[in-house]
Amino acid sequence: MKKVLIIKKIHQSGIDLLKKRDDYNFEIVENLEIKNLKEKLSDCDAISLRTFNFNQDLIESSKKLKIISRHGVGYDNVDTNCIKKKGITLAITANANADSVSEHVFFMMLSISRGFNSYDQTVRSGNFLNRSNLPLSKELWNKKILIMGFGRIGKNLIKKCKGFDMEVYVYDPYVKEEIIKNFGGTKINDFYECIKLMDYVSVHMPLGNETKNLINMKVFNLMKKTSIIVNTSRGGIINEIDLNNALNENIIFGAGLDVFDKEPPDTSNPLLNNKKVFLSPHSATYTEECVERMGKETIQNIIDFFDGKLNKSMVVKL
Ligand SMILES: NC(=O)c1ccc[n+]([C@@H]2O[C@H](COP(=O)([O-])OP(=O)(O)OC[C@H]3O[C@@H](n4cnc5c(N)ncnc54)[C@H](O)[C@@H]3O)[C@@H](O)[C@H]2O)c1
Repeated sequence: MKKVLIIKKIHQSGIDLLKKRDDYNFEIVENLEIKNLKEKLSDCDAISLRTFNFNQDLIESSKKLKIISRHGVGYDNVDTNCIKKKGITLAITANANADSVSEHVFFMMLSISRGFNSYDQTVRSGNFLNRSNLPLSKELWNKKILIMGFGRIGKNLIKKCKGFDMEVYVYDPYVKEEIIKNFGGTKINDFYECIKLMDYVSVHMPLGNETKNLINMKVFNLMKKTSIIVNTSRGGIINEIDLNNALNENIIFGAGLDVFDKEPPDTSNPLLNNKKVFLSPHSATYTEECVERMGKETIQNIIDFFDGKLNKSMVVKL
């Protein structure tokens, strides 16, 4: 009998997959106090993990643990060095997220470009007939976009961009030109030259030494005054102080952020009071459909792992 610890509730359809199997039992844990978690972890074979920080201390307490199944694709909340040493497998929901995140990018780009806030406010405040005094909004149609990071989400996003007849440029040093071309994009090597021409920039690479603060005032100063940048990847890639200044000084037009350097952001974070940035609380995957897909895939990955048929696209190379 395998024991699965579900650290914070997931969609019922995932839990139902476990219920169908008589060789598994499971427990859902909502009390995340370390003492409680350690007790529960001591005899479990697998965990389903959302965003809770699974550090060395917890890994050491998980004596029988064989697989961590992330409910999502990012895994910066897992001590990968430690699980590598212990031979623990790390799985992600590789097929579940991309559609929802790339829609969220469009939700942000369209909301900012089409002046969502001012239109909505105009109607509610009884100023309907003054609409011609509002600044004109902008179309996405035929505009240039730079997709930074051409993995699962970047590849999904380009299809939607093509639907808007956008001209798509891709910055990803690790993806071959031919692959990008096959998706209808143009690979760029000189990020600093390309960014000067872009109307939109969407960030989809992981946070790491190479990408931390990559988008800073130097980059904003190169961008068009009319440009819009969206980050649904990880906070820290865009320098938040520089972004706030770039927006206030009209160096760029607008920004959409789903992710923050510190989550939740401090109430003193100036971006929270900046009307030129469209914010969401790390919720690009919070759709009914995506949460269901993630719940199922998280559990299916555990079952497939023990059945010896976990697809390698779901496994993080450590
Ligand atoms: N907002 C959310 O709720 C949410 C949901 C899912 C994923 N994410 C985040 O989105 C990001 C992308 O997810 P994914 O599933 O597409 O990942 P992925 O691993 O499939 O793709 C990442 C891509 O980034 C590229 N890359 C790595 N370093 C780079 C660099 N220095 N410059 C340019 N490109 C670089 C890689 O070559 C790869 O193609 C991840 O950081 C993930 O954590 C956020």
